[in-house]
Amino acid sequence: MFFQKKKRLLAKPDFDNLPQHIGFIMDGNGRWAKRRGLPRSAGHRAGAKTFRDMVRYCKDIGIKNMTVYAFSTENWKRPKEEVEAIMDLLRSYLKDAFDHREEEVRCLILGDTAPLAPDIVALIKKLEDESRDCKQMTLNIALNYGGRAEITHAVRELAGQVQRGELAPGEITEDTISAHLYTAGQPDPDLIIRPSGEYRTSNFLLWQSAYSELVFMDVLWPDFTRRDLDRAILEYQNRDRRFGGV
Ligand code: FPP
Repeated sequence: MFFQKKKRLLAKPDFDNLPQHIGFIMDGNGRWAKRRGLPRSAGHRAGAKTFRDMVRYCKDIGIKNMTVYAFSTENWKRPKEEVEAIMDLLRSYLKDAFDHREEEVRCLILGDTAPLAPDIVALIKKLEDESRDCKQMTLNIALNYGGRAEITHAVRELAGQVQRGELAPGEITEDTISAHLYTAGQPDPDLIIRPSGEYRTSNFLLWQSAYSELVFMDVLWPDFTRRDLDRAILEYQNRDRRFGGV
């Protein structure tokens, strides 16, 4: 069936009317490396560069919340050297705390940090504390993160409150659940971008993405550019968001 589009389509992104929150599934690092005959760790290194550039660009154009999927609860299944390579990239990013403060970016880690190396846990705490009052943008790094695990964690906390008599079951609402997620207090993502040609969201921001616009792109994450982000924003702005209404 053919539906005529009523909306006037934009030819270029409207930077005065940006999504508040963008999520990135940073996929395709392994394939990028393989195509070049390089080890997968080289792909992650290139991906980390893209990530840093995207943080800068998102902050500069005025995106208020940005979330990247850096390491999922399932990624532990990868070879030890690859996991270590990703953790090392993360270490070096976390150590640049001073830069973040200069860039006015508040940094938060979404996920269960308990199984991470103690030095990484300490770096996370330091960066989260130091950047707490930065107002330009909130950067969420999903690390040892899974959407289902996040919801399970929230439900456990609420069940504990019910058990202690602090909360009646009838008082559990969508808002109380949202308030117990790692993203508590932040707007849901308006736009989620997955490069690399895969068409799924892989347990990323499961609850928060109920009404997100999904943009899938063919480019691999290490090749993802500012121009690609502009293209994704344009695609988002040309969609008709109705949130279940008409
Ligand atoms: C998915 O690509 C990517 C990851 C599992 C790791 C993402 C990590 C980074 C971009 C670098 C570190 C992050 C920070 C925040 C400094 P893949 O390996 O699954 O690619 P493939 O599907 O082509 O194999």
